[in-house]
Amino acid sequence: MSERKILARACAPGKVILFGEHAVVYGRPAIAAPVQQVHARAEIWSADACVVEAADLQQRVLVEQAPVEDPYAQIVRLTCEALGRPLPSWRIRVSSEIPIAAGLGSGAAISAAIVRAMLAAFGARLSQERISALVYEVEKIHHGAPSGIDNTVVVYEQPVWFVRGLSPQPFAVAQPIHLLIADTGVPSPTKIAVGDVNRAWKQDKSRYEALFDAVGDVAQRARNAIETGDVAALGSLMNENQRILIEMGVSSPELERLIWAARAAGALGAKLSGGGRGGNMIALVRGQDEVRVGRALLEAGAVRVIKTAF
Ligand code: PMV
Repeated sequence: MSERKILARACAPGKVILFGEHAVVYGRPAIAAPVQQVHARAEIWSADACVVEAADLQQRVLVEQAPVEDPYAQIVRLTCEALGRPLPSWRIRVSSEIPIAAGLGSGAAISAAIVRAMLAAFGARLSQERISALVYEVEKIHHGAPSGIDNTVVVYEQPVWFVRGLSPQPFAVAQPIHLLIADTGVPSPTKIAVGDVNRAWKQDKSRYEALFDAVGDVAQRARNAIETGDVAALGSLMNENQRILIEMGVSSPELERLIWAARAAGALGAKLSGGGRGGNMIALVRGQDEVRVGRALLEAGAVRVIKTAF
């Protein structure tokens, strides 16, 4: 295939869920924020056929022939459909610094980067709401029954108060929130954790509904703490959310080790973030404790620590 010139490039950030994962699938509110320290990227080159190449995964997908379950081919097709355009002859190269199956929204970020690069290459526009809806369609392939929080945060690129089926609400952040994001190095596909919670919910609906209500209440109090700048209260609420996530059965020994190491080193609060069972945890820190907590996380076995703030 002959390669010609670059037509467009675009990126999208990672994300963390601060409060409300899993319960958000069942209609309770959640709070999430973008992570601008890590990105997924898409570059488009003119070519002889429509191909998506995922360099990191050594994957090459010929869009015309790929099945509907292929997330790369699907986002390309959906974007063309939304714009009323035929499949273009492009080589779309994707890469990502966001670890896969780690609770940081890598799938949504890759899809969003592809849509944005395609819009730039076509010279077309779509609202953020439409882009988020396209990414959501592909999230269904990754997750089964996603709440929509990942695509929303990754596309809107701001901290949001999210309730399934409603427009995301941005909210005021009175004091900067400093977070350390530490990776257990254990990949954990969200689909599996979400499926297990769903099975457990079906077996004991009243117990799980009460757990989800408790998470919703924590998320509401956390929003107030963020809006009033009460970071100490916010830390305690993260710990409270983590206790409920343990009861839901989505924590893991690796996550617990990092969470306890962060708390012992002075974090105001710590919890898993995303689907759980592995992937990443987050620790809320005061600026002056950042280095000490970061070191403690690495000593406790974190494979990577990302510093972020919003
Ligand atoms: O693991 P992640 O980053 O994809 O987060 C998933 C969050 C869940 O609440 C567990 C699922 C969802 O669709 O909201």
